[in-house]
Amino acid sequence: MGMMEITNVNEYEAIAKEKLPKMIYDYYASGAEDQWSLKENRNAFARILFRPRILIDVSNIDLTTTVLGFKLSMPIMIAPTAMLKMAHPEGEHAVARAASAAGTIMTLSSWATSSVEEVASTGPGIRFFQLYVYKDRNVVTQLVRRAEKAGFKAIALTVDTPLLGRREADIKNRFTLPSHLTLKNFEGLDLGKLDKTSDSGLASYVAGQVDRSLSWKDVKWLQTITSLPILVKGVLTSEDARIAVEVGAAGIIVSNHGARQLDYVPSTIMALEEVVKGAQGRLPVFLDGGVRRGTDVFKALALGASGIFIGRPVVFSLAADGEAGVRKALQMLHDEFELTMALSGCRSLKEITRDHVVTEWDHARIAPKL
Ligand code: FNR
Ligand code: LAC
Repeated sequence: MGMMEITNVNEYEAIAKEKLPKMIYDYYASGAEDQWSLKENRNAFARILFRPRILIDVSNIDLTTTVLGFKLSMPIMIAPTAMLKMAHPEGEHAVARAASAAGTIMTLSSWATSSVEEVASTGPGIRFFQLYVYKDRNVVTQLVRRAEKAGFKAIALTVDTPLLGRREADIKNRFTLPSHLTLKNFEGLDLGKLDKTSDSGLASYVAGQVDRSLSWKDVKWLQTITSLPILVKGVLTSEDARIAVEVGAAGIIVSNHGARQLDYVPSTIMALEEVVKGAQGRLPVFLDGGVRRGTDVFKALALGASGIFIGRPVVFSLAADGEAGVRKALQMLHDEFELTMALSGCRSLKEITRDHVVTEWDHARIAPKL
């Protein structure tokens, strides 16, 4: 299939699979263990149907939104995904430029193969930094300072990874970072390489370096070392949403890490409403996991999300066609979302309501509450 025929973001995966070495494709694509949650992240979107409104003047549709005070062209943002130079030589640079051209946010992974400074040097853009907390807190303090200095606007604190989930393909492939690449942010700290191990080199790295004692008090600690807003990434319950509000988080990302951590957690789209309830309107709630269509974006917003993030569609479009691929992926999602709004009678994001969708878990609720 040539790039010209690409009509939706799903199509990039087959191209990426063909282009990439098996070890690398498998790392990007995999979920944990039985990969039940991986399938469920997609399947659950098909259990939500529309209740479109008709005969509304949709000659002007406004997709713009504000996230943490930053004006964006659309509520579609880029999730942190590690080691993007394995997908394409321009890696994180290409993604940063594509995000900035699309007028949206890129979240840079702690474990990028480009440093915060390098990504900043690609030009202007609103960028968030995803943080993994190391046992050695000096490492964290230094890195957060560097991200601040490089102009990153928020910290996405990943809270679902005290240990790495079991991705069986990575174990079989003995996944490791190709020798010409490093986890660039940690190069100078001698923490930039993954070991060759008898299983997943990334799992060993996480076990060795990531602080599994991380707890809510560390969110407080993080607030003492940075004034950047902190998004808690990996919340799946209303209980934790309430605590996130109490500790002063700036936002929540409902995420199951692309189903790569604990298997048999619900799809994020099914977990979303309880988290929104827990957040009590006191902070914005975002979602990632399985978003592949403009209709998915609409469904997430109808269920209370302020915006969504995409992971694998960025990785696979980057692998297929570099910066142009990521630009096109973002454009296709933008256009699909705009069309969904038009066809359901919504002219702005605030016009998208719970009554524009019905879910299977609404117990056959087919009309709005009377
Ligand atoms: C991830 N994710 C992730 N999350 C994070 O906080 N730090 C990271 O470094 C990574 N790395 C990473 C690599 C790859 C290859 C994938 C697929 C995912 C999780 C990511 O931010 C996001 O939660 C999911 O990717 C969202 O699901 P979809 O869009 O991939 O279905
Ligand atoms: C992953 C880590 C890097 O999901 O977040 O592979």
